[in-house]
Amino acid sequence: MKSSNFPLIISTWDFGMKANRVTWKILMSGGSSLDAVEKGINAVEKDPDVTSVGYGGIPNAEGYTELDAAIMSGPEHKAGAVAGLREIATPISVARKVMEKTNSILLVGEGAFEFALRNGFKRVDLLTGKARQKWLKWKRGKTAKKMDESHDTIGLLLLDSKRNIYAGCSTSGLAMKIPGRVGDSPIIGAGLYVDNEIGAAASTGFGEQTMMFCGSFLVVENMRRGMSPQRACEEVLRRMVSKGKEKWVGFIALNKEGEYAASSLKKEFPYAIYCKEEQIIQKSKIVKG
Ligand code: GLY
Repeated sequence: MKSSNFPLIISTWDFGMKANRVTWKILMSGGSSLDAVEKGINAVEKDPDVTSVGYGGIPNAEGYTELDAAIMSGPEHKAGAVAGLREIATPISVARKVMEKTNSILLVGEGAFEFALRNGFKRVDLLTGKARQKWLKWKRGKTAKKMDESHDTIGLLLLDSKRNIYAGCSTSGLAMKIPGRVGDSPIIGAGLYVDNEIGAAASTGFGEQTMMFCGSFLVVENMRRGMSPQRACEEVLRRMVSKGKEKWVGFIALNKEGEYAASSLKKEFPYAIYCKEEQIIQKSKIVKG
């Protein structure tokens, strides 16, 4: 698909539309592209009904919600990220502070938490009643479905009116994960990647698999070698399959020309597009295992 109108926003899952609307509004009122990405993702992080991102995210096996997020700015080729962050509802905003205020890229656990407090973030109990009930049910062994199948990341890509590219992603990671487990989302090149001359990609799904292939980086590199966003995503998924890795993973991607796509393994996922001409949810194309 292609949009000739910029800005163009593309994000993962149905809840991506909520993020896109906020991102669009900020852009239309003259806000910065980084603010637009951050605040768009904040809208999903703060939504207690989204149980795979931010406040209300399903906790780890010990009942603690641990959050991962990353943000990347194409024009400066800069990134910031946090992993295993507890008790802060907006990890993407902390990731942005890491990018803008430090020489580091990734802060984890206690260090990330202390950094957030020093930068004015408020301590919040992230465990909602709904998330706690799911955890308790799992702990009592009453959840039939394996909870580690729940890992719907918000990933958002923006091609702005100056044709600069930005990306962000945020997640509570695998439900009931081992405490300390970090997924693909805060790993630059795995959960997201931007090359301002080429395009951007972000992933959702089983993070360990994406990390093993530097998934988002590889999507962007495929586009550098001339592939469309669609083909670039599909080639990475095919590479996974060729090595016998068939857990569920999905990618969104866009290039500098405004072409965009989403692709996933075996099962489709919805993604949200927002530009002047259209604001719609579409389904990813499937690569068969
Ligand atoms: N893709 C999110 C995670 O695996 O944590």
